[in-house]
Order: sequence, then structure tokens, then C-alpha cells
Amino acid sequence: MTRSSSGPDREEILVARDAREMASLGAELLARAIAEAVDARGVARVALSGGSTPLDAYAALATYDLPWDAVDWFWVDERAVPPDHERANFAAARRALAAAPIPEGRLHRMEAEAPDLAAAAARYEALLRASFGVASAVAFDAVTLGIGDDGHTASLFPRTGAALIADRLVAAIPAERTPGLEPRLTLTAPVLRKARLAVVLARGASKRGPVEAARRAGSDDEVPARIARGVEGQLFWLLDEAAAGGG
Ligand code: 6PG
Repeated sequence: MTRSSSGPDREEILVARDAREMASLGAELLARAIAEAVDARGVARVALSGGSTPLDAYAALATYDLPWDAVDWFWVDERAVPPDHERANFAAARRALAAAPIPEGRLHRMEAEAPDLAAAAARYEALLRASFGVASAVAFDAVTLGIGDDGHTASLFPRTGAALIADRLVAAIPAERTPGLEPRLTLTAPVLRKARLAVVLARGASKRGPVEAARRAGSDDEVPARIARGVEGQLFWLLDEAAAGGG
């Protein structure tokens, strides 16, 4: 692994030699954030992105000896499919974390299969505010993010205005704003930016350009993954050598 810092002092780039090291590093970052949060506040709240890249890190995290009873699991985004569907982010993360003794009541999935997505978004927002406490900011202790080949993150797709939504914590994204995909539910930029720790995981040569674009200044609507650079806490770009431009 190679480590470098650039940009804001709370932003680091970690380049893993291979998928195994990438999973191990991702798990280590999440485990440390969870342990610190539980020590400090008695609870840890984690928001998980979907996609394939982070799944190995989730499986590695599940092998840690953590205070699993004190961790609440949320989702960064979800596709409009049933929760057990092969494309459901909830199902994928649940499988990856299967080795961890997570109480079912600590899993808070997004109900993106609901016919009224806007109402489901409002319900999830209410759940977040209740979990974090209405007087507190919704500041996740750890958030994982992916990056699409088009520069999207979460379900905030480029040139749709979704990355600029700032009047709610959870947004319903209609099919016409998700290029060829299902409608979505997604956390919005203001929530993602409040994270104490954000880990952007990107693997493969196709992610090199999007990562470079995300790390450059510019419009979040053009490259929604630029939202990561506004994270108030610690930001790690966890890349493999291909996504980092080497290898
Ligand atoms: C989703 C994800 C999405 C994902 C990127 C990267 O629901 O699809 O939340 O934002 O992180 O598309 O996906 P991969 O990790 O599979 O490349």
C-alpha cells in the first residue's frame, strides 16, 4: 500500500496493491471509526453504498471483534427493487456482512421498492432524524462511497441536478434521472458532507478518469463524486493501482 496526502489535510489517498489489500484497508478504516464512535458516544452509525467495489471490505469488516450491538447500519442509496432482489444494495451488503452478529433491529434499509418513492424518502429522513436526535446533525461516523464511470456517487447522477439537492436529507430519484437504471432512493450531498469519515472505494482502470475528475475543482453537478471533497471529517480515496493510474 502507498499513502499520499494532497488537497485538504484531512484528505488521503491509499493505493492498495491488490483487491485483498483494498478490502483489508477498507475494513480497517471502518472498524476504527466504529470503535472510536462507540467509545466516544456509545453508538456508531454507518451508511453503506452499494455497487460491487465495497463488498469485499464489508466481508472483511464482518470478521472484526466490534461492539456490533452498538452499531446502526444505514444505506447511502437503494435501487427500486425488492430488498431480496439481486440488484438490491441492502441484500448485497447484508450478505457481505453475514459473518457479523448484527441484530436485525440495527439494520435500517431504504424502502425503495415502495410505490411512492417520495413518501419512502420522507420516511427514511424521519428515521435518520429520530436516530441521530432532532437536535443533532445527521453526521454519520462512517460512510462508504463508490464512483461510477460517469462520475456519479450514491445515486446522484451527473447533469441531473441531483448532486445540488440541499433541501432534504434523502431524495427520490426518478428513472429518467438514472441513466438506464431503476428509480432510486439516495442520501443527498448535505448528509454525505457531514460524515466524520468518508471512504471512496474505486477499483479498475475505468475509475481512473472519474477519480481524477472528482478530485479536481469544478461543478458537483458535472461530477457528483466531487461531493466527497466537501466532507467535513476525514476523507480517504481507497484505490487499487489501476484506479490510481498505475499498474
Ligand atoms: C449503486 C451505488 C453506486 C456505486 C457506483 C460504483 O447503487 O449503484 O451506490 O453509487 O457506488 O455505481 O459501483 P461499483 O462499485 O459497482 O463500480
